[in-house]
Amino acid sequence: MQDLTHTLNVALDERAYSIHVGCGVLSKPELLLPHIKQKKAVIVSNTTVAPLYLGMLRSTLENAGISVLPIVLPDGEAFKNWETLNLIFDALLGAHCERNTMLIALGGGVIGDMGGFAASCYQRGMPFIQVPTTLLSLVDSSVGGKTAINHPLGKNMIGAFYQPKLVLADISTLDTLPDRELKAGLAEVIKYGLIRDGEFFVWLESNIEKLMARDKDALAFAVHRSCANKAEVVVADERETGERALLNLGHTFGHAIETGLGYGEWLHGEAVAAGTLIAAELSRLLGWLIAEDVSRIEKLFVRAGLPVAGPALGAGRYLELMRHDKKVLDGKLRLVLLEKIGRAVMSDVATESQIIAAIESRST
Ligand code: NAD
Ligand code: GLY
Repeated sequence: MQDLTHTLNVALDERAYSIHVGCGVLSKPELLLPHIKQKKAVIVSNTTVAPLYLGMLRSTLENAGISVLPIVLPDGEAFKNWETLNLIFDALLGAHCERNTMLIALGGGVIGDMGGFAASCYQRGMPFIQVPTTLLSLVDSSVGGKTAINHPLGKNMIGAFYQPKLVLADISTLDTLPDRELKAGLAEVIKYGLIRDGEFFVWLESNIEKLMARDKDALAFAVHRSCANKAEVVVADERETGERALLNLGHTFGHAIETGLGYGEWLHGEAVAAGTLIAAELSRLLGWLIAEDVSRIEKLFVRAGLPVAGPALGAGRYLELMRHDKKVLDGKLRLVLLEKIGRAVMSDVATESQIIAAIESRST
């Protein structure tokens, strides 16, 4: 593939930042160093990603005379909680980090969400940079400033909107990503096609196998197109008062799956995939999505090696868990549904019996 780095701008006025997408952006000090204003920086990572990429990042900083405090956390969704967050604060305070010290979150969505949340709280806000290393975090979680930890009663329930200063989206980090994680990331890629970019959905129908085979050009295109979609939505609705909620297609059902099974049992992307099929089925029951389109969606998820039905938690348990959803308004459940491939809507028109019917037809 050509050595091209594409730069996108998240145009949020004084909170604007760049996303550099490409192969090898992590080995380009000129992209990172201008953002590090102090002689000390912090890298938050985990026990899996640190041995792979922390050394490279650390050398870049140390070669420029910047000392590095590495904070290496246990790996996994099950550790996205208060106890782990406190390990970050312990280390920051122990090393006398200041309000202007840069925190670099190096890892997947769990590290990005937790590192970003720590940055939002530490001394009421220190700057941070996202260095995503999973497909899911490259295309979604590193962009847009949603940071959070989980609560036993609900996913991502404690958090803040807090934008990074920079996103370094290096496609080469996907070389080491396990297949199951790559597939989980595809769920969020397909999401953009479904909610607002029908042309991209058609491209995915022609190229999904290339993505699964880690073809670099295909991955670079898909990451860039996904980030461009995400950036547009975030600029239009940073704090999710409208359009941004559409990025949660499949997530209300998906979060119920993740919380219901215990964090880490199903990957986030797997839960989102099953949740998206439940949402598609509900959209069909409402007379919006035609059956052929539900089938097209199902086929693409199957080809991506993703689940197209949720676990049999029981519809009652799904509903109970879904009542914690952040889109609940005045106690009423609102769901992201599809009018067609490429157009999503937020709606509260589905009756409880229709929601139950969709869950029952799409859980095994
Ligand atoms: P993850 O962070 O748990 O990473 C998946 C696994 O891959 C982990 O074991 C990780 O250590 C490992 N890994 C990461 N990079 C690797 C690499 N390059 N090579 C080898 N192994 C690597 O999971 P994820 O799917 O990246 O993120 C899921 C999280 O993101 C969830 O907590 C979800 O709630 C959150 N999320 C947040 C947003 C947002 O807007 N903030 C959006 C979507 C998802
Ligand atoms: N991943 C959903 C959002 O960023 O809004």
